[in-house]
Amino acid sequence: MCGVVAVIGKQNASQLVVEGLKKLEYRGYDSAGIAAAYNGTLQLVKSEGKLVNLINKLKKEFNDKLYFKASIAIGHTRWATHGNISVENAHPLTSENKVAVVHNGIIENYEAIKNKLIAEGYTFRSQTDTEVLPHLFMKYIRSGNNLLQAGRLVLRDIKGAFAFVAMSLDFPNELFISRNSSPLAIGLGEKSNFIGSDAHSINHLTQRVMYLEDGDHALIKSEDVNVFNANDEEVNRKIINIKAEIGLITKGGYRHFMEKEIFEQPSVIPQTISTFIKNQSEINIDLNKLGFKHKNTLLITAAGTSYYAAMVGKYWIEHIADLPVIIDLASEYRYRKPSVFGQSAMLVISQSGESLDTLMALRHGKKLGLSTNAIVNVEDSTIDREVDYSLYTRVGAEIGVASTKSFTSQLIILFIMAVALGKKFNNLKTNHIKNICAYIHALPGALAQMLNMENKIKFISQNIKNAKSIIFLGRGLLYPLALEGALKLKEISYIHAEGFAAGEMKHGPIALIEDEVPVIMFLVSDGNEDKAISNLQEAHSRGAKIILIADKNCIEKAIFAHFKIEIPNFQDDFKSLLSPFLMAIPAQLLAYHIANERGTDVDQPRNLAKSVTVE
Ligand code: F6R
Repeated sequence: MCGVVAVIGKQNASQLVVEGLKKLEYRGYDSAGIAAAYNGTLQLVKSEGKLVNLINKLKKEFNDKLYFKASIAIGHTRWATHGNISVENAHPLTSENKVAVVHNGIIENYEAIKNKLIAEGYTFRSQTDTEVLPHLFMKYIRSGNNLLQAGRLVLRDIKGAFAFVAMSLDFPNELFISRNSSPLAIGLGEKSNFIGSDAHSINHLTQRVMYLEDGDHALIKSEDVNVFNANDEEVNRKIINIKAEIGLITKGGYRHFMEKEIFEQPSVIPQTISTFIKNQSEINIDLNKLGFKHKNTLLITAAGTSYYAAMVGKYWIEHIADLPVIIDLASEYRYRKPSVFGQSAMLVISQSGESLDTLMALRHGKKLGLSTNAIVNVEDSTIDREVDYSLYTRVGAEIGVASTKSFTSQLIILFIMAVALGKKFNNLKTNHIKNICAYIHALPGALAQMLNMENKIKFISQNIKNAKSIIFLGRGLLYPLALEGALKLKEISYIHAEGFAAGEMKHGPIALIEDEVPVIMFLVSDGNEDKAISNLQEAHSRGAKIILIADKNCIEKAIFAHFKIEIPNFQDDFKSLLSPFLMAIPAQLLAYHIANERGTDVDQPRNLAKSVTVE
């Protein structure tokens, strides 16, 4: 994870770097720092905690508001991997107060390099893997190399996934940058250039952006950008025009971005729908592009919440299109020898388009000969650029660390894809598709109805906020919702929570039930509800506090539940396939309100980051 920014050729470079860092806090927020070359010295300011601490420190120490007048500066916001959260471990890391480096990723062979450098007389001040970089640069510059030559020698020494920017007082008008698996964008300006972990972090400075490819390195000056591939050959990378920044994204009157993102679902989901359904009932997904020539098995991989969306997708595609679907956790996929027998296409799902696990799974699938597709929110992200075909959720930036609107929009696309595949492979008739599209168009309204239940959910949250552990249950289509509800709750409230398939309780987890343990069940009348209600009854008779989120019929059957949230009835079986959309709202609101009651940092919970770019 971590975010890097650099500016060269602007008088207020350090101020612009801080502006860029503000947009990169989603990549990590446990410490931040900035280095600038000013008056022949290296100015270094670092602080623990969120970026605001760094900004306050800069204002205090450099009260001319421009921090310091330097035309070259690099900055970093950290998500700790090696070494605890401290000022010493915050980036930039330096060598002899002459070289400074900011880095995102992991130098896997740092131990061996570090031992060698220590033997050569270099002193390490941090516990980070990154600190080998400035010392290596120092070593090679000292032995007579220029910044480009030194950078190339450094690249020969290191292994791992990384994106870094290096500066040296010996070359005050140059930056050396390189990337391998971690993202890095170059922004091209007028007599100035910019570097950022994503294009968004620099799009207040320029709209002309170039992405480095894996293994590339570049020498950046204020008037020149020279990019080289892994064989040191100069290459031209495509310049693309990105959208101009329309001001900073705000909370729009809500207390948290997460709250805003939950409540904007009814207004942003129509954008996802209108991208994939034209003229009321024409499905706009190109199955040929998807790589489906025959009735093959579809492979879906993703991480976290996006993986739970994949679980729902599997259910739908198998049910509606009668196509086999294999789902796999992205972090596991490439570490097995997966068989691709009967498969021709893979689909990855990622809000950020940057999760390294998902990216690596994608590359592995590509190597195995699968055509690659993505459901992705961030256009031009690494995953978007590397797949054959992207399906965009288009729900706008998601800032809160916990995924909310991205989950429901991923579900929309998966459902529409299931219908498209059903038409092609399972004889789904045009008339039926028309009805299904009408159901889909009605979903934003149904989501708004669910949001009206907020007060009731708040009340329940107050009642269970002190629980040590909370259990979520679901069956079939709603089992992934139980997993998602538990994930949402644990990540922002820090309460231990587990999701189980209701039928699995008796195979072990029921041992966790004791007096007052909250058990939250998602349930709809799908013909199997009586079995699920029996599972709930078993928890009830062992003292659990039962919270049932269900339709009227189920609520009437489970009169023993302590709290009930009634969702609108589904009039037919097909419509009840859409229950995961509606159930996502109480899952999100419960987590949000419990976290609020406990006073945690909802948008930036501890130990997490929005974009997970380490393995
Ligand atoms: C949970 C959450 C994470 C992400 C996961 C994948 O609320 O946000 O579990 O879903 O890290 O991220 P993307 O979808 O960006 O690949």
